[in-house]
Amino acid sequence: MTRSTTIATPMAFAGAPAEEIIRFDRVSVRFGDQSIFEDLSFSIRSGEFVCILGPSGCGKSTILRLIGDLLPVAAGTIEIAGAPPHESWDKLAYVFQSPRLVPWRTAFGNVMLGVELRRLPLDHAEIGSLARTNLEFVGLARDAGKYPRMLSGGERQRVAIARALTVNPLIILMDEPFSALDVNTRQRLRTELLSIWRTTGKTIVFVTHDIDEALILADRILLLSAKPTRILEAIEIGEPRPRRLESGSALSQRRDRLVASFEAMETQREVRS
Ligand SMILES: Nc1ncnc2c1ncn2[C@@H]1O[C@H](COP(=O)(O)OP(=O)(O)OP(=O)(O)O)[C@@H](O)[C@H]1O
Ligand SMILES: [Mg+2]
Repeated sequence: MTRSTTIATPMAFAGAPAEEIIRFDRVSVRFGDQSIFEDLSFSIRSGEFVCILGPSGCGKSTILRLIGDLLPVAAGTIEIAGAPPHESWDKLAYVFQSPRLVPWRTAFGNVMLGVELRRLPLDHAEIGSLARTNLEFVGLARDAGKYPRMLSGGERQRVAIARALTVNPLIILMDEPFSALDVNTRQRLRTELLSIWRTTGKTIVFVTHDIDEALILADRILLLSAKPTRILEAIEIGEPRPRRLESGSALSQRRDRLVASFEAMETQREVRS
């Protein structure tokens, strides 16, 4: 079987309203006697870039784990493209805070590994061609033969992004993927990610606790409260990209309000503890 290309047709730009691709309906989650979510409901449209923003420990990573069927729900339902999470693993790929590359494989070998582990019905040559295309796509065509120890932090994270693209998922789940990088690399990778997203039309669910990052990247921000966690606000960001947070702009005013919300959550936490 031949897959056409990793660069799928952008779905969100076709003019028609995009369909829902992720839906949480009254989801509750517990760890022992601790309740993390009660009745959490939201949905994400196909091709949307959604940032999940909230204070540490509120449950951002837990949401990604639920989407990936790494955690069971105590109540409620989750649907990924109309199917339950346990039937949806092939629609998803992850990029974590650390790139999780195997040290004994080159960048190219690491990108191939993502597909090999999924046992997709592709032969070695096809996987190789996809891996090469995606390494080129993230700007690493000349570094394909390097081992992880020979790559910078930003380059390693690019390999992780290429690996995620190569399994050709509908949805890419990203858990603070740039938070361990220096400021300049982080900014460059944000720009590159937006370009990848625009070209591929993938749905991206991006977890961060960085307000500026969410404002620069997202179509929509889901702002989570501290525990017991609920969605405080779903904020549509209509500003064209590339975005800058210039003082006095609508985005910067939005940032001031988000900073105030975070400060209020911190204060509540201190009062409770
Ligand atoms: N397997 C587990 N068992 C018990 N408690 C857990 C488990 N996984 C997560 N938790 C708790 O659930 C809460 C939410 O965790 P989660 O990792 O989703 O937070 P987060 O918003 O991603 O935080 P951070 O920004 O620090 O990464 C935390 O209080 C955490 O301690
Ligand atoms: Mg987390």
